[in-house]
Amino acid sequence: DVEIIDSIAALRAWRQRAREQQKDVGFVPTMGALHEGHLDLVRESLRGNQLTVVSIFVNPAQFAPHEDLATYPRTLESDLRLLRGLSVNVPRTPTTDTETRKPSAVFIPPVKDMYPSGITTNVAEQRGAFVQVKGLEEEMEGKSRPGFFRGVATVVLKLFNAVEPTNAYFGQKDIQQGLLLRRLTSDLLLSHPAPENLHIVPTHRDSTSGLALSSRNMYLTETERTWAPTLWRALQAGKKKWEEIMQAETDPNSTTIVKGARDRVVNAATEVIQTAVGESEKEGVSIRPDYIQLNWTDTFEVIGDVDKKEVLSEGTRGVILSGALWVGRTRLIDNIILGHP
Ligand code: PAJ
Repeated sequence: DVEIIDSIAALRAWRQRAREQQKDVGFVPTMGALHEGHLDLVRESLRGNQLTVVSIFVNPAQFAPHEDLATYPRTLESDLRLLRGLSVNVPRTPTTDTETRKPSAVFIPPVKDMYPSGITTNVAEQRGAFVQVKGLEEEMEGKSRPGFFRGVATVVLKLFNAVEPTNAYFGQKDIQQGLLLRRLTSDLLLSHPAPENLHIVPTHRDSTSGLALSSRNMYLTETERTWAPTLWRALQAGKKKWEEIMQAETDPNSTTIVKGARDRVVNAATEVIQTAVGESEKEGVSIRPDYIQLNWTDTFEVIGDVDKKEVLSEGTRGVILSGALWVGRTRLIDNIILGHP
């Protein structure tokens, strides 16, 4: 059965046994309120590792004082039920039979184990050690939520130090978080996990509406829920515009620099949201865009003029179209990676 581990000391003992058995350890950090998006990460870990640890820890350091730390959904019973019910079959080579793998352990640390020096959401009053990834935390989510990535980077480094995972799994839903953490592992010379063993798993979406699954979707009322997919529809409109721009002007003698691409893509997405703002108001739902941004995947810098040569061939820079949308009092985020048209 899934072992419940509730202290750093017990986790270290568990990890030591895994080391003695020479077993790979996959790790999926979460804040609980688990849904199919989280479970995709766990399945990926089960496929790639003999043992899998899932952590559930609502990390105070990544919430601002005005944010939803107190009300963040805590659904431990259902989380454990979902994890206990999860299994994957992996081939046992060289034979033809398969091995059934289930999550090995759920790590649910108390706040005092993760923050021995104490923790408050008020940055000015914080004491103890923190870590930051400068240059990758300023745009997109970091711009809207100052201090957020400092909190995320700090807790994930602590969790990595405690679990010492062979592989770790993150969702594309939070693309800036995943890429920033990969940079953290390379800049701080981590080997558990090594940067190449930090995996980013595709976003799990509602099959009919395209809405990205999120623990915060639980906050939405029934009517708000019908307007929540607006962000995904907006990003798709932006993507369509991007593809139009990249397909146009293919004359090899013409310049490959496309001016104003960013504004045209962002405007296409924003228009979808503006239309929804008017329509949803009639149903008593208030929608408000926070941001729509177009950034490079390697630096997160806002994109200026686009050189097609830079984005159209294999192995070149990727582009992230991302956004945050308020639906009533709930803040939702989503993103698309723009590749070749
Ligand atoms: P949480 O929001 O619980 O998400 C845990 C992991 O699940 C993250 O890697 C996130 O990107 C992934 N995830 C969430 N929704 C997803 C979806 N629809 N499809 C695929 N993956 C999805 O992200 C955090 O917690 C915290 O910041 C954490 C990393 C645990 C640090 O506190």
